[in-house]
Amino acid sequence: MSVEKRDPHTGYLTTGHDWNGIEELNTPVPKVIYICLGLAFAFALIYWLLMPAFPLGLTYTKGLLGVSQHSLIDADLQQAQTDQQTVTSKIATLSVDEVRADAGLMHYVRATAVPIFGDNCAACHGIDAKGGPGYPNLTDNSWLWGGDADAVLETLRVGVNDEQHDDTRVSQMLAFGRDGMLDRNALLSVVTYVQSLSKPDAGTVEAIGAGREVFAANCASCHGEKGAGSIELGAPDLTDSVWLYGGDTQSVFNTVYNGRTGVMPSWEARLSDVDRKILATYVLSLGEAGQ
Ligand code: HEC
Ligand code: HEC
Repeated sequence: MSVEKRDPHTGYLTTGHDWNGIEELNTPVPKVIYICLGLAFAFALIYWLLMPAFPLGLTYTKGLLGVSQHSLIDADLQQAQTDQQTVTSKIATLSVDEVRADAGLMHYVRATAVPIFGDNCAACHGIDAKGGPGYPNLTDNSWLWGGDADAVLETLRVGVNDEQHDDTRVSQMLAFGRDGMLDRNALLSVVTYVQSLSKPDAGTVEAIGAGREVFAANCASCHGEKGAGSIELGAPDLTDSVWLYGGDTQSVFNTVYNGRTGVMPSWEARLSDVDRKILATYVLSLGEAGQ
């Protein structure tokens, strides 16, 4: 048994152990530790009462506040959905031009259109909408079927040469060579003439002159007397330097020899009215950026 003894310097009791004259102080745990422990315990108890805490087999204690991350996420999703519905119903009632004039709506249009375009249109028109041989560039201001909102909306609705849609736009560049409508000389001269419309030094004066006659007799009915094209028939403007199928001699020859029938699917059955409007708005805004 040790004898109770107080250390004269600190005033604390010693434990009574003595190792060759070295004694051990019995320092009490500081009060602040007890206070902190008490607070932590109280906090845990209150938190447990208020918040979801203990698992109880198939369920758990829900807490007095009834907080649940599930219901928070549900509420967030619901809010996002309502916001989206407000925006889409606004887009549905406004005209494409009105939507384009509204910076806030255009922000939404771009964010929504990019994935829809990527999923449905990029395979043919390219992810940057710049097209490729046979697939029109949608970012320039050269349009086969017209570049106003109604024309683009209609193209999206009915498609081009799409047999699935009764109202589809129909366009056909005839196979003048393959079907024997023009002989080789006439073909070669009309090709030279067509090239000369955008590149005056494309051939000799004689060849261009001969081609002009072939063109007036065979091509002007669709492409116009001056070759400026027709948006009623989807016949391209041959006087600009924009080519759907290529402007080099071989490509133009192929076009006139074999004909062309571009097919653009109709989207009426696959995309909602609002989605088509969003896409048309997006596509037209690309044209503007390319100016
Ligand atoms: C299967 C390939 C294909 C897909 C997919 C496709 N297009 Fe087209 N698109 C074409 C072709 C080909 C043309 C040109 C038709 C022609 O020769 O007149 C065209 C024409 C157009 C035009 C008219 C261009 C003009 O100059 O008048 C627009 C606008 C257009 N597409 C938008 C879209 C959008 C938006 C989508 C996605 C919803 C889409 N396309 C999906 C092939 C496609
Ligand atoms: C029945 C109307 C029609 C007639 C006639 C016609 N074309 Fe076309 N042509 C078209 C259409 C429509 C296209 C677009 C085809 C497509 O988009 O797939 C086209 C496309 C072309 C193109 C491709 C342009 C490009 O940007 O790549 C050339 C070149 C062309 N025609 C030249 C001619 C010449 C030359 C003749 C006369 C020998 C002629 N066409 C007669 C309707 C016609």
